[in-house]
Amino acid sequence: MPYADIQATANALDELSVRRLLNCSSVASSRKLDQETQTPVFLANISQLLTLRPVSGKTGPRRSPDLKQLCIIENGAVLCLGGKIVSVGRTKDALRDPWLKRNRKKVTEIDCAGKVVLPGFVDSHTHPVFVSPRLVDFEKRIEGASYEEIAAAGGGIRSSLEGVRKAGKRVLAEKVLAVLRDMAAHGTTTVEAKSGYGLTVESELKSLEAIREAANSWPGTVIPTLLGAHVVPKEFLGRSQNYVEVVCKEMIPQAAKRKLAQFVDVFCDQGAFTATETEQIFEAAEQHGLSVRGHMCQLSQTILRPFLRFHPASFDHMDHVNEEDITQLARHDTVATLVPGTNYFLGLMQYPHARKLIDAGVPVALATDYNPGTSPTLNMPMVMSLACTHMKMSPAEAIVAATVNGAWALRVADRKGTIEPGKDADLAVFAVEDYREIPYWFGANRCSMTTLNGTVVCPQ
Ligand code: NIG
Ligand code: FE
Repeated sequence: MPYADIQATANALDELSVRRLLNCSSVASSRKLDQETQTPVFLANISQLLTLRPVSGKTGPRRSPDLKQLCIIENGAVLCLGGKIVSVGRTKDALRDPWLKRNRKKVTEIDCAGKVVLPGFVDSHTHPVFVSPRLVDFEKRIEGASYEEIAAAGGGIRSSLEGVRKAGKRVLAEKVLAVLRDMAAHGTTTVEAKSGYGLTVESELKSLEAIREAANSWPGTVIPTLLGAHVVPKEFLGRSQNYVEVVCKEMIPQAAKRKLAQFVDVFCDQGAFTATETEQIFEAAEQHGLSVRGHMCQLSQTILRPFLRFHPASFDHMDHVNEEDITQLARHDTVATLVPGTNYFLGLMQYPHARKLIDAGVPVALATDYNPGTSPTLNMPMVMSLACTHMKMSPAEAIVAATVNGAWALRVADRKGTIEPGKDADLAVFAVEDYREIPYWFGANRCSMTTLNGTVVCPQ
């Protein structure tokens, strides 16, 4: 949209009620933040504005060669109003616009000279509801034990359960909120958040309530996922079918009825749930109107084709995916979400075969998998750096995978993941002159500002 259209868009926004503007199904829609009080935000003189606007006319998640199209505007500008992006273009055109000239005093203007602006990251796979880090597991792994051995000896996911079961909802919500704030400081504006460290009906629902409570206090967008099928808890060992029934007949119906989750996830792997159990759980999710996603092929190979009838939004990890499934996935919109933070933290030499997936036409996303066992990082640029150095993704591919394809993996691509008029005002500003510096300066945080649904947040 050229800047000449600001007047029309601004008028239209004035007439809309804020409730209608925010009429979406995510947790964020119920937040108390009053978008009406937000001042318009105008980002100007942006050295590189990465719009990620679609170029090929194709819809759906981005696949090679569209996976590297950033659609950069040099010396760009973006105007945000009422939590939405209303105009995108060159600064010199924006400054000539009559609406902006008239309203300049009412607008918060941010000079982005020497900076890169891109869509806020969409972290489409996180496990933020836990109490303590798993430092003993960390040391045991350094001494040579594997993730599977530690889990079999009573460490791993099961060792995080007690803390969550005992914790009050408020404590969990505070922990989640602290993480969300830290994520925003690193450029993330949309976060998928899973339960999965309670594994009783009561503590899984409590975890989802904690996610909702934290989301209500955060200006970004949170997409909640029920991961009651993370592992079989100790009290059900040897009776996994009984636990699957609890997930299907109690957790899923209650989470769906109370609108506490949008997705149901299953850890389908050795030491967790079988393919048959996973299908049962996906069926229950479908019956209750919830979409599905899965932890797949992290530790061992699972045949993915039978799951495609559930139209999963995403298969995550994918370290051991087989060739035939790659061919199938190239024909579907299920996103392969790669989480190289886990490979790094587990000290693995092998990373997911991103090049093979991308070159075959599979849509690939990147996410942190923030969790206490395999990936205690919330830093999307760090994950992108790992994707570049260990998975041979180009910096441009890493950016598309961390933004618009993450949005597809969460089914929010209609409002997230690109900088276009009408989309949510989710922007990340980086104090670098060239976008390739984002994954280049690994481990450092070069994010200098984010806007989350139009609310400006600066890292402390
Ligand atoms: O994505 N694989 C299953 N879940 C997490 C690990 C959880 C944990 O170890 O606490 C993952 O890697
Ligand atoms: Fe995970």
